[in-house]
Amino acid sequence: TKDWNGIDQVVLRNPQGASARLTWRSSHTSWRNDRGEELLFTSSKAIFKPPKAMRGGIPICFPQFGNCVSLEQHGFARNKVWTIDENPPPLHHNDSHGKSFVDLLLKPSEEDLKFWPHSFEFRLRVSLGADGKLTLISRIRNINSKPFSFSFAYHTYLSVSDISEVRIEGLETLDYLDNLFKRERFTEQGDAITFESEVDRVYLSSPNVIAVLDHERKRTYVIRKEGLPDTVVWNPWEKKSRAMLDFGDEEYKQMLCVDGSAIEKPITLKPGEEWTGRLELTVVPSSFCSEG
Ligand code: BG6
Repeated sequence: TKDWNGIDQVVLRNPQGASARLTWRSSHTSWRNDRGEELLFTSSKAIFKPPKAMRGGIPICFPQFGNCVSLEQHGFARNKVWTIDENPPPLHHNDSHGKSFVDLLLKPSEEDLKFWPHSFEFRLRVSLGADGKLTLISRIRNINSKPFSFSFAYHTYLSVSDISEVRIEGLETLDYLDNLFKRERFTEQGDAITFESEVDRVYLSSPNVIAVLDHERKRTYVIRKEGLPDTVVWNPWEKKSRAMLDFGDEEYKQMLCVDGSAIEKPITLKPGEEWTGRLELTVVPSSFCSEG
């Protein structure tokens, strides 16, 4: 295992030319298709310096999503320098076809333990398939002598052409907690979700497959998740965009966060137990899966 120090980034490529790039902090992932088009959003105002995660990519929210316990918002994991495991365990046989992968590791520092006194080992495996699919697998193990609980999210910044032309399918009729109304619980109506103002919600017990349709680019992100019952949907819209220092005033039009997450019911791990949360992202032409 080597420190990120001195290593700028890890690049995974497939034979077709798709790529995934991870910079020295796990929080920053870039993912490109075989035409070199970036599929994840990164702000032009992103600050590429510690101690805060960069605005964009797929920051990992752990051990909390939001700010329920007295830790930094969305937990410390996304603000950390992770290490690379140079001798990672191999991929599972039935999961290895044409895949390249990298394993990043996180353990709590002395400082982290003061604020969150639970020892854990976090292994994040990022892989790129021969078909261009991006897979993130988080394994979190309790190496403490007491149980602990956490919430978790892959804060996935999707790059879209124009937010007003985007819709999400798969969250219709679900209950959600609305962060804009003190996490009050509401029920979604029967239609696909579209955007015309700020949205900051946690959809509960959502299906394992969710589609984000970008009408203008005629492409659909297919999000598959396991171990992640909830789905966060976030777009800051105009006013909040202006208030964020590391985000352009107009950039809310080109991004949408749709996060596979475990929030409403925290995950509890007994000593020695391990939890796995898996996220798979693919992009398909919209005509293949909808009328658009
Ligand atoms: C969202 C939260 O998922 O993340 C929002 O629900 C928050 O309330 C947003 O503003 C971004 O958070 P941060 O800490 O990266 O600015």
